[in-house]
Amino acid sequence: MAVNATMPFARPRRDACLDWLQMLSGAALVLFMWCHMILVSSVILSTKVMDAIAWFFEVTYMAQVGGPIIFIVFIAHFVLAARKIPFTANGQETAWAHAKMLHHRDTWLWLAQVVTAMIILVMGAIHMWVVLNDFPIQAAKSAARVGSGGWLWFYFILLPMIELHVSIGAYRIGVKWGFITRENRPKYKRIELYLFGAFVTIGVITLIVFAYLAKAMKEAEAAAEAAKTVTQLVLPLLGA
Ligand code: HEM
Repeated sequence: MAVNATMPFARPRRDACLDWLQMLSGAALVLFMWCHMILVSSVILSTKVMDAIAWFFEVTYMAQVGGPIIFIVFIAHFVLAARKIPFTANGQETAWAHAKMLHHRDTWLWLAQVVTAMIILVMGAIHMWVVLNDFPIQAAKSAARVGSGGWLWFYFILLPMIELHVSIGAYRIGVKWGFITRENRPKYKRIELYLFGAFVTIGVITLIVFAYLAKAMKEAEAAAEAAKTVTQLVLPLLGA
């Protein structure tokens, strides 16, 4: 049987270039996510700290310009990575069969990377659309959002998905480009695990703080409403 051995390497230059772009966009998003989680978690210190940081990003136009740029990089990264994602049922069956056959941890990591990517694509796009269309960013507004509808559960799903994807992504970039070797691999796996644990913990505390703030705001609103009603009832009785 004749085999076209040249086919997979038909455009090596273009493929290498796309691989570089995928790695660079991925690395930029990993850095963005680490900064983003630290900035949002500033609400743990106080709402004033988060508001001050958001204010700085808005007066310098970094939020207005940077936000849409991140959105574009986010979509571009998905399109670049999609070249290697099996979308057909046949392709998915083969990938699953290989993962089971190989018993190789890094193959499972790749599968986790693909599954989390799909979830993040949808949920991350919804999140960015909502936040970028609701400037200015303020702790009270974020708390009100997290405390309304199903948003708390939305973030409780998105948070571990994004942290898993980011940790595996950073590790795979290290392996692919040679920073992580056979010798230092266990050390870097441990570092990635610690980073994952640290960011998920900070994220969960942040969400609890937002939910607590939302509850406090609702209670304050209810108390103000009750005080207004009492005043409206009592004042006529006093003849005021
Ligand atoms: C485009 C730039 C972005 C901005 C301006 C932004 C802004 C924010 C803000 C203000 C919050 C607080 C909650 C809220 O207001 O709803 C938040 C939370 C969150 N964002 Fe973003 N975000 C951006 C991009 C992303 C991306 C790309 C992801 C991941 C796909 C992401 C994942 C999350 C998660 C998981 C939380 C919950 C925070 C936590 O648990 O600490 N964000 N973001």
